[in-house]
Amino acid sequence: MKSFIEGLPKAELHLHIEGTFEPELMFKIATRNGIELPYESVESLHKAYDFSELQDFLDIYYQGMNVLLTEQDFFDLTRAYLIKVHADNVRHVEIFFDPQGHTSRGVEFATVIHGIHRALVQAEAEFDISSKIIMCFLRHLDEEDAQRTLQAAAEFKHLIAGVGLDSSESGNPPEKFKRVFAQAREQGYHIVAHAGEEGPPEYIIQALDLLKVERIDHGNTAMQDAALIERLVDEQIPLTVCPLSNLKLCVVDNLAQHPLREMLDRGLRVTINSDDPAYFGGYMNANFIAVENALSLGKNRLARLARNGFEAAFIDDARRQELLAELDRYLEVHL
Ligand code: ADE
Ligand code: ZN
Repeated sequence: MKSFIEGLPKAELHLHIEGTFEPELMFKIATRNGIELPYESVESLHKAYDFSELQDFLDIYYQGMNVLLTEQDFFDLTRAYLIKVHADNVRHVEIFFDPQGHTSRGVEFATVIHGIHRALVQAEAEFDISSKIIMCFLRHLDEEDAQRTLQAAAEFKHLIAGVGLDSSESGNPPEKFKRVFAQAREQGYHIVAHAGEEGPPEYIIQALDLLKVERIDHGNTAMQDAALIERLVDEQIPLTVCPLSNLKLCVVDNLAQHPLREMLDRGLRVTINSDDPAYFGGYMNANFIAVENALSLGKNRLARLARNGFEAAFIDDARRQELLAELDRYLEVHL
């Protein structure tokens, strides 16, 4: 099953580029930029990755991104991620970034997006990995801050496919951002939002009704609401599920209790993603292998997960057909 997963062509649709910051690279860039990290070594930083909820992780995640200053830093970060997922046979990626996590520290929007974009262009040429960039608003900040960020993004609109919503979910409902998401929609961005990771099913309903999302990032707590499950199935709203993230952030106690298999069997359009792989212990294949080991999904469900990824991606029809055909060719031989 491991080799079936390794060879399976995949798309990653829920990935925070700042969450791919491996300790080794973090120390290297910190040294290059003359910044001192509050950890003595790679090992002591690793030891801090012991989270009991989302906020524990976010505190360390924001601290880590503080060492990113130059376009080269963002290039190196993105390049390192792309090399990892190329080895996992990931064929398309949609990358989140948190502009406010950088502009609030005096790093220009242009510096961030150009560094990320340059690495993506190179990976397209070198690895035939297609990609999109999605900027996320930090939901612990106010809506005006998100609106200023949307304005700052205007000159880079040609590089940004969509707008999302991340950071501390509890107490920060989608409703808080309904005006800025209406503006983003009018400007033609794709719309996604984190919802139902720690927040109640009501937050998923708000993301659908008020933000008018095309996909839900996470969506775990939908399983508490039968009517919502039915709606998500009827409307075939993709859920970008992140198993190892859910485990590390104690959204589930263990992967055997993860709802992924039930989600699939109920007809929800779920995909598998790594979220913040440097912090959660694994990239795409590690996530697939961990859920297969815990839930015995079998090849057909694994194939369905891969197919859902290509179907839910913000790509044009030509690229979608190309990737689905590649998947079909693989399944013809290996299923
Ligand atoms: N930012 C980075 N990873 C996140 C997650 N899993 N939930 C919310 N915000 C995040
Ligand atoms: Zn996320």
